[in-house]
Amino acid sequence: VSWFNSLGSNYRSATVRRVFWPASRQEPERLRAYLGDHYERAAVQLTYKGREAITLGLKQLELPKNSLVAINGFTCYAVYEAITAAGYKPCYLDISKKELNFTAATLGKALKAHPNIKAVMIQNTFGIPADIAAIAKVCQAHNLPLVEDLAHSIGLQYETGQEAGTLGVWAALSFSQDKMIDAVSGGALLAHKPIVQIKKPAAIAKKSRFAARLYPWTTAIIRRTFRLGIGRGLLKFTKSTGLIPRPMNGSAVAVRTVSNWQAREARLAYENLSALIKHRQKIAAIYERLLPAEAKFSTSPQAVYLRYPIMVSEPHRLIKYLKQFNIYLSDIWYDAAIGPKHYTHLTDYDGQCPQADYVASRIINLPTHWQVDEATAKLISGKVLEWLKLNQ
Ligand SMILES: Cc1ncc(COP(=O)(O)O)c(C=O)c1O
Repeated sequence: VSWFNSLGSNYRSATVRRVFWPASRQEPERLRAYLGDHYERAAVQLTYKGREAITLGLKQLELPKNSLVAINGFTCYAVYEAITAAGYKPCYLDISKKELNFTAATLGKALKAHPNIKAVMIQNTFGIPADIAAIAKVCQAHNLPLVEDLAHSIGLQYETGQEAGTLGVWAALSFSQDKMIDAVSGGALLAHKPIVQIKKPAAIAKKSRFAARLYPWTTAIIRRTFRLGIGRGLLKFTKSTGLIPRPMNGSAVAVRTVSNWQAREARLAYENLSALIKHRQKIAAIYERLLPAEAKFSTSPQAVYLRYPIMVSEPHRLIKYLKQFNIYLSDIWYDAAIGPKHYTHLTDYDGQCPQADYVASRIINLPTHWQVDEATAKLISGKVLEWLKLNQ
């Protein structure tokens, strides 16, 4: 067995068996109805990517041109893409060396320095909740809309008792590969006010649709045969031929929609969500118990742990060490303040978040998905500890 952070690790055998079953045309509508009901939102628009939902949500706010949207300064390029596609600019709020979300105090300071901030988006990085009560208070005092990007945190219950996605003016969901609800790709905007309906969502190329549907199969084969070298070769081949969907591919400019089978997967994944969260929390508790304080971030009992973050002084050496034991963790969220690193040059990020830069140079994510059981979590912790003893 080999373990990965991503590469289809979210799919259980039921998904792999099911993806090619014909799916009803009613599935997108069923998903839409389910989401509206679950989050008590009057308006739901399905999208093909979480970033499309963010753009659509921001456009609904009708902010003045060139407004700033305050976001977490440790985030994904897709968020930058979404904000600029809506016609706005991001204002990056720095995190701290131990906290992966910005605080209300940081937001307060930013509002003084940048009166042009017209909306605030929270991220709940890796499913660790932001200090929502304090942030909401600041937003209220400044009469600013607070919106929720739930790409990492579907299923999270805030300390206030509210479920993530029910609190902001709107919430954007991502059902992309390696997310909490994983339908290879997909997303949704949940709003209270009617959303300008997208009459004809933009089309998705046949090849991309096929690659997405094949993905649970391709990755199951790759993961199982990685040790033998076959999987490695297949990964290279599918990457070079475009037969594997890449998470960063896509754009936020036009709203597209999910395929019927993806809507079905997303809906069924919601049925298993509380069991999945319990599993992720159980695995995270093992890392939490076994790893030393210096390597850990501050977290919360509410956290749903899409991944379990740790930090070390030379993450690339630890990644190399773990490979010997078939533990492959090179897919790091995030290796730059606006990650992935090789996308940062496309943004206007210019060192505004020194603490996020520091974290990005040290972070590694440990997996919490279904493929990691308690024994594996202990094995991974043991190998990390072994490396720490030798190197720190
Ligand atoms: C914090 C955050 N927001 C939004 C997104 C966008 O999701 P998607 O890839 O579905 O567009 C991602 C991931 O790509 C993310 O990490």
